[in-house]
Amino acid sequence: MSLASQMLEFFRRKAKVILGGGEKAIEKQVAMGKLTARERITTLLDQESFHEYDLFVEHKCSDFNMDKKQLPADGVITGTGKIAGFPVCIFAQDFTVAGGSLGLAHARKITKIMDHAMKLGLPLIGINDSGGARIQEGVNSLAGYGEIFYRNTQASGVIPQISVILGPCAGGAVYSPALTDFVFVVDKISKMFITGPEVIKTVLGEEISMEDLGGARVQTEITGNAHFFAHSEEECFEQIKRLVTFIPWNNRKRPDPFPAKPPKPEFDVEKVIPVNPRQPYDVRTLIRSICDDSDFLEIQEHWAANIVIGFARLNGETVGIVGNQPLVLAGVLDVDSSDKAARFIRFCDAFSIPLITLVDLPGYLPGVDQEHAGVIRHGAKILYAYSEATVPKVTVILRKAYGGGYIAMCSRHLGADFVFAWPTAEIAVMGPEGAANIIFRNEIATADDPDAMRQSKVQEYTEKFANPYIAAANGHVDAVIGPHETREFLIHSIEISRDKQENRPQKKHGIPPF
Ligand code: HXC
Repeated sequence: MSLASQMLEFFRRKAKVILGGGEKAIEKQVAMGKLTARERITTLLDQESFHEYDLFVEHKCSDFNMDKKQLPADGVITGTGKIAGFPVCIFAQDFTVAGGSLGLAHARKITKIMDHAMKLGLPLIGINDSGGARIQEGVNSLAGYGEIFYRNTQASGVIPQISVILGPCAGGAVYSPALTDFVFVVDKISKMFITGPEVIKTVLGEEISMEDLGGARVQTEITGNAHFFAHSEEECFEQIKRLVTFIPWNNRKRPDPFPAKPPKPEFDVEKVIPVNPRQPYDVRTLIRSICDDSDFLEIQEHWAANIVIGFARLNGETVGIVGNQPLVLAGVLDVDSSDKAARFIRFCDAFSIPLITLVDLPGYLPGVDQEHAGVIRHGAKILYAYSEATVPKVTVILRKAYGGGYIAMCSRHLGADFVFAWPTAEIAVMGPEGAANIIFRNEIATADDPDAMRQSKVQEYTEKFANPYIAAANGHVDAVIGPHETREFLIHSIEISRDKQENRPQKKHGIPPF
C-alpha cells in the first residue's frame, strides 16, 4: 500500500466514517429491518459507481456537550453515481449517527450536492431517515432546512427530484420530500408526519401509532403524499431504477429513447372496452394494449384511483399517460384525481414528455362533500395544467366525455394538438338520461305514459349527441379512429410533434389555483 493510501485509511478510521454510528447503532438499525445508509447507496447505484464527497465534514456545535460528540460524516452521506448507466447526485441520512438528525453541517452537505445536481443537470435522489432538526443545534438546524427547501424549489422543473423515505421523516423535514417530484415509501419502515404521536396525545389527548399516523400505506392510500409503495427496501430501489429510465436527466434533455417494441400479444386493444357501454373496464389494460412492450409504470397507483397516471413508451419514446379509470367511481374527476393529474401534467410539461390523454368519464363528481372540499379550486388545477402545457398533447376519447369532464380532459379547447375519438365516443353536455329529464321535463310530465316518453326522449338525445360525429363535424375531433389504429395514430402524432413550438404571453409566472 502506498503512503498516500495508508494515510487515507488512517483518516477514515479516525473519522469512524465507514461504521457510521458504531456497531450497536447499526445492530439497532438492522433489527428494524433497515439497511444502513451506505448499504442503501450501494444497493441502489450501479456497482462501484459511487463517489463520496465531504467524508470529513464535522459539526461546529459545542452546546449540550456536543463538542465531545464525534458524528461520522455528520450523519449524512453524499456523492454521485450511476443508476442503469444514468448519472445521479445522491444523499442518504445515516440514522445510526445522532438519529440522522439535521444540523448545519449536515444540511450544508445536502445543499452542496443539490447545487451540484442543478449545475450539472443531474437527477437528485434523497434518502431520508432522520429524527428531524438536531435539537442541540437550535436555530442553525432550522436554517439548514430552510436552505434545503429553497433549493428544492429552485430545482423544481430543472432536474428530477426523488425522495426516498426509509425511516422517520418528522416535523418540518417532510416538506423537503413534499417539494420533490416523486416520493417512495416502504411498508413498516417509512413514517412521515408533521406532528408526532406524542404531540397529538398532548394537544388532542388522542393515542395513535406512528404507523397509523403516517406510515407507508397511509401516505400512498389516504394522503397521496407518496407516489410509490414497496414491501422492502430492495423492491423500492428496483422501482427507482425503473423510474429513472423513463425520465430525462434535466429539463434541457429529452428522456433517452429505448428500442421500439410492439405491445404484448395478450393485450388485445379490440377487446378492452365491453360491448355494453355501462360496463366498466380497466384503463390500464387499454394502456398496455397500445404502449411498447405493454410496459406501463403507474404512479400513485393506490390513491385517487379514479384517474390513472404514469409513464410508458411509444415507438421507444417516453410519454406521460393520463386516463380516466372507469373501474373506480366511473372515472369521475374529483378533488384528489384533479390534484393527482395536474401535478403529473406539470412534471411532463417541465421535462418535455409528450402527454397522451385517454378519456372516458361522466364528468366531475357531484355532492356536498366534494363542493365543500373545494372541487371548484382543485378541479381548476387540471384545466390550468393542461392549458399551460406546451408539450405535444394527444387526446383519445374512448367512450363518455360529458360536460366539464370533456373540456378538462385535454380537449382541443385546452390546446390539444390532436384529438381522436373511437366510434364508441359519446360527447355531450351530460348523460342522455339527465339531459332528457331536463330538456323534455314538460313532455315527460304531461305524457300519458311518462316512463315510455322518457325512454323515447333518452333515445332521441342519444342518437343526436352520444356519438363522436357532431364533434368531428365541428372540428373539435380530428379523426374518428378504430381501436386497432390507435397506437399508429399516437406514434405518428408524437413523431411529427418533435419540434412543436408554442409561445405563451410574457409573464413572470402564472398563478395556478394551488
Ligand atoms: C438530536 C436526535 C434527534 C433529534 C433522534 N436523536 N432525534 N438527536 N436531534 N431531532 C437521537 C436520539 O437522541 C438518539 O441518540 C438517537 O438519535 C436515536 O434516537 P432514538 O430515539 O433512540 O430512536 P427511536 O426510538 O427509533 O426513535 C426515533 C424517533 C425519535 C421517533 C425519530 O428519536 C424522536 O422522536 N426524535 C425526535 C423527533 C423530533 O421531534 N424532531 C424534531 C422535529 S421538529 P442516542 O445518543 O441516545 O443514540 C423539526 C423542525 C424542522 O424537525 C422544521 C423545518 C421547517
